[in-house]
Amino acid sequence: MTESLLPVRIIGCGYDAPDRIVTNDDMARMVDTSDAWIREMTGIHERRFAADDEALSDLGLRAARQAIAHAGIDPAEIDLIVVATSTPDMCMPASAALIQARLGASRAACFDLEAACTGFVYGITVAQQFLQTGMYRTALVVGGDLLSRYLNFKDRRTAVLFGDGAGAVVLRAGGEKGILATHLGADGNGGDFIQLPVGSRVPPSVENVEAGRHNVVMNGREVYRFAVDIVPRAIENVLQQAGIPLERVDHIILHQANRRIMEAAAKRLGIPEERMIVNIDRFSNTSAGTIPIALAEAVEQGRIRKGDLVCLVGFGSGLTWGSTLLEWTSDTPMPPRDRLVNPPAPAGGEG
Ligand code: ACO
Repeated sequence: MTESLLPVRIIGCGYDAPDRIVTNDDMARMVDTSDAWIREMTGIHERRFAADDEALSDLGLRAARQAIAHAGIDPAEIDLIVVATSTPDMCMPASAALIQARLGASRAACFDLEAACTGFVYGITVAQQFLQTGMYRTALVVGGDLLSRYLNFKDRRTAVLFGDGAGAVVLRAGGEKGILATHLGADGNGGDFIQLPVGSRVPPSVENVEAGRHNVVMNGREVYRFAVDIVPRAIENVLQQAGIPLERVDHIILHQANRRIMEAAAKRLGIPEERMIVNIDRFSNTSAGTIPIALAEAVEQGRIRKGDLVCLVGFGSGLTWGSTLLEWTSDTPMPPRDRLVNPPAPAGGEG
């Protein structure tokens, strides 16, 4: 990085999830599974499913409004909106444009970005490029998905893993340096390990939908192997770039795919588990939503404080991966929310 680039930091964050809580026992009424299997194999206790009339932009808008209030800015100050998602409201227009209209962020350029569960890390890295060059001053990045729309409720291997949710951050150029290092990667050779096939290859025809060809499919074992290999490498990459040892990192937020992946990564790196931020028990895997939801919830709870070093690590379909090392530079408390999306963790869960 050259010296002429501007520092970039996160100045606000927010998150949202649908009201409808679907427990593992509820899932066991839909597919042949059990609460015990899901808890033991994934760490998930419950997930949120969107209402029929809710779409990605509804969740993203609520997360964005909280992030904007936390940042203390006016939506008219936003120059760029990036929405990272694999489940936009529609193929076009972009959900970013739908959110822009409802926010009144009239001068913002808008686009959606698809990097699956790594989408949020890709999103903040892309936004950072516009900000550090001075092209824009303020960016809103939303990450979220409504994978409940694409689950095959006859496939217990995938149906129990996913939920709906979105998170958002406001990034600003100038001032303190918050984003210290970023790293992105991809390996398209693993493109069939996890897929949401609906698209121009599998159009949503009656035949395809009836046969369930449009639903999420996954090779769980390959995804597991990929994740436990790539997570330590992605963390080491940004630490090396920043010249910061792992011991100095206060919090690690991994994509919340599976608690066992997080435990394996923590063990491999020798990180005490209390430094991992985990909320998969309550939200499950919300794809591009997991990292910004976990970040905003930890800030809201006062767990992440000004001066803390936080490492974000995404991995997912593509295959894609990415990591960001940042210093939390804000001491502004989160504004009160009008929707309760974080009820107390159930016994045994982690907040
Ligand atoms: N309930 C009960 N039994 C189940 C369920 C379920 N929900 N799902 C699978 N099983 C059964 C299978 O039917 C199989 O039984 P069988 O041998 O009698 O057929 C047995 O469990 C083993 O099935 P596998 O699919 O081989 O299970 P595995 O040991 O690989 O565990 C899991 C599955 C937990 C998903 C694991 O592969 C994993 O953790 N993978 C990581 C993938 C992941 O987390 N993906 C999230 C989305 S991808 C992403 O976000 C990047």
